[in-house]
Amino acid sequence: MTDFKPTAFRCFRVYHDAGGIRGRLETSRLEDLQPGSVVIKAHYSSINYKDALGATGTGKILRRFPLIAGIDVAGEVLTSQDSRFHPGQLVLITGCGLGEDHDGGYSEIVRAPADWVVPLPQGLTPAEAMSLGTAGFTAALCLHRLEQNGQRPDQGPLVITGASGGVGILATQILSQCGYQVVAVSGKPSAHEYLRELGAQQVCEPQALALGKRPLEAARWAGAIDNIGGEVLAGLLRHIDLWGNIASVGMASHHQLDTTVFPFILRGVSLLGISSTNCPMPLRQQLWQRLATAWKPHALARSVSRTLSLNELETGFALLLSRQNQGRILVDCQKS
Ligand SMILES: NC(=O)c1ccc[n+]([C@@H]2O[C@H](COP(=O)([O-])OP(=O)(O)OC[C@H]3O[C@@H](n4cnc5c(N)ncnc54)[C@H](OP(=O)(O)O)[C@@H]3O)[C@@H](O)[C@H]2O)c1
Repeated sequence: MTDFKPTAFRCFRVYHDAGGIRGRLETSRLEDLQPGSVVIKAHYSSINYKDALGATGTGKILRRFPLIAGIDVAGEVLTSQDSRFHPGQLVLITGCGLGEDHDGGYSEIVRAPADWVVPLPQGLTPAEAMSLGTAGFTAALCLHRLEQNGQRPDQGPLVITGASGGVGILATQILSQCGYQVVAVSGKPSAHEYLRELGAQQVCEPQALALGKRPLEAARWAGAIDNIGGEVLAGLLRHIDLWGNIASVGMASHHQLDTTVFPFILRGVSLLGISSTNCPMPLRQQLWQRLATAWKPHALARSVSRTLSLNELETGFALLLSRQNQGRILVDCQKS
């Protein structure tokens, strides 16, 4: 329980002015936040690729200005006008518009609609929940969608691209734990040994995939989780075996997809869309339960490359955008 008084608190608010899109740490008050029926003392947030794009203006992610950035938060309910939540309860929010069109998680205090709030499942601390964050939730959503569409470990190996990033590192662990043979694809040779330690059976650089150019190539993999889009996604489609699946997650390389219908009509391959932001609440709760139990990565603490304070967010954005980071960046919202 907490003795909440609505005094001033720190937050990272992003502005769009003549100088472009920039954020800064500033002091705010509860009445400055957008409306919502649940007020949360933020313990932890995280930095996802999307956060780095949005908060720096590198990508069009934020849909209103000024806005507190941060698409993830975990912490403790201070007040709730909704009977599903009570003061002192540990909760989390990922996506749903937080940090995109509603004041987000880079703040000591967060106010949000109750419909976005997930009770923190037993088995996860707020720090662990944010070590997973949107990236871990997305990895879980990928596995759910793949298996819902018939994917099984005995079909053969699954490729994970952008493997040293947040989604990649967590997907590598979760899928390996669930018995899948993971081929982790990373452009960072320095991450290869680490990915093997996390469970990948094979690790290679994107060029080593030798994806070819023909409309259909030799069937080499049973499926994939693709974080980078563009030519690599198009290439993977040409190599997926009968009735395999690709979960399309990201576009770190490119948003365009130049392909043919052959993988779909000759091999029954499915391209599955992953949209973590607007995942329906019942599925959201079910996946967080799994992340707290069977799908909780064994090396979760090792997946965090660094923990930053609200003062240090820009260091994290730069690391993600320059592709220098490996794993997850945790944000301690109360650390000064
Ligand atoms: N659909 C959804 O719901 C959803 C949810 C979360 C994330 N995403 C998207 O999924 C992707 C991964 O997110 P994340 O949070 O894991 O990001 P991240 O931590 O920044 O990781 C992205 C990884 O992609 C690779 N990469 C980065 N820039 C690249 C480039 N120009 N060309 C080729 N590869 C590049 C890098 O891996 P290597 O250096 O190891 O190759 C990098 O570590 C992003 O595009 C993100 O926006 C989508």
